[in-house]
Amino acid sequence: MNEVLEEILKTGYTKKHDGSPQKVIGQISEEEGRLIQDCARECRANTSVEIGLAFGTSALFICDSLRKNKNTKHYIIDPYQNFEHSYNGIGLNNLKRAGYENIIEFIEKPSHLGLAQLESEKVMVDFAFIDGWHTFDHVLVDFFFVDRILHVGGMVILDDSDWPAIEKVCSFIKSNRSYEFFGGTSPRSAEGNKNNVVHENKITNKFKNVIGKTPGKRTRYGAMAFKKISHDERSWDHFIDFV
Ligand SMILES: C[S@@+](CC[C@H](N)C(=O)[O-])C[C@H]1O[C@@H](n2cnc3c(N)ncnc32)[C@H](O)[C@@H]1O
Repeated sequence: MNEVLEEILKTGYTKKHDGSPQKVIGQISEEEGRLIQDCARECRANTSVEIGLAFGTSALFICDSLRKNKNTKHYIIDPYQNFEHSYNGIGLNNLKRAGYENIIEFIEKPSHLGLAQLESEKVMVDFAFIDGWHTFDHVLVDFFFVDRILHVGGMVILDDSDWPAIEKVCSFIKSNRSYEFFGGTSPRSAEGNKNNVVHENKITNKFKNVIGKTPGKRTRYGAMAFKKISHDERSWDHFIDFV
């Protein structure tokens, strides 16, 4: 593990450009970092895209996990990284300090524009991490665009999947798209922890047994990883209701 990431995980702080301490907030947990490592290993990821950089914790895990060769590339999309009163460029500086400057490409745009740009440039990735604006519609749009640039066999993680809005997007993926649940982490939100097992009474698709150990119920996860099984071959009017 690189030293910049190690410091964040150990202390909860990182460094500003002048070397003074900066408290890290909103970052993924170490457990989620391990899920990133497992996914990257599973799909032998060379290329990846991430939505939501913040102070760079997930990006540092991802860059550590990619297979290193001449094609290695991590695309990062975040419109607010350089805002003075938020992240102030510290996430990008952390990637530079960790030695990853040459494998990253930073797109300073909201994700719906950044992802569409990657598709128009014919970029394809093996792995994606979605952790940007957390409303249902934004996360669904992120997933929609990610799917269009994700190789079959590639993997996507949705962070904070114990938030109701994001849990709904995961339900949509399970019920309507050709993705297989790969693994998840412990719930972190108050909602997720309050009642970890939720009833699932209306699942009608072929992945109905993937989530949860008890039939008819499913478990909440702090982050959920899915593997892409095939290209989108649904009919134009396909829809399976989901909960
Ligand atoms: C929870 S933080 C991400 C934390 C990060 N993954 C980590 O492990 O440190 C959410 C990030 O999403 C970014 N963000 C907010 N709206 C966005 C949008 N429309 N497109 C892309 N990123 C966005 C924010 O600037 C912020 O950096």
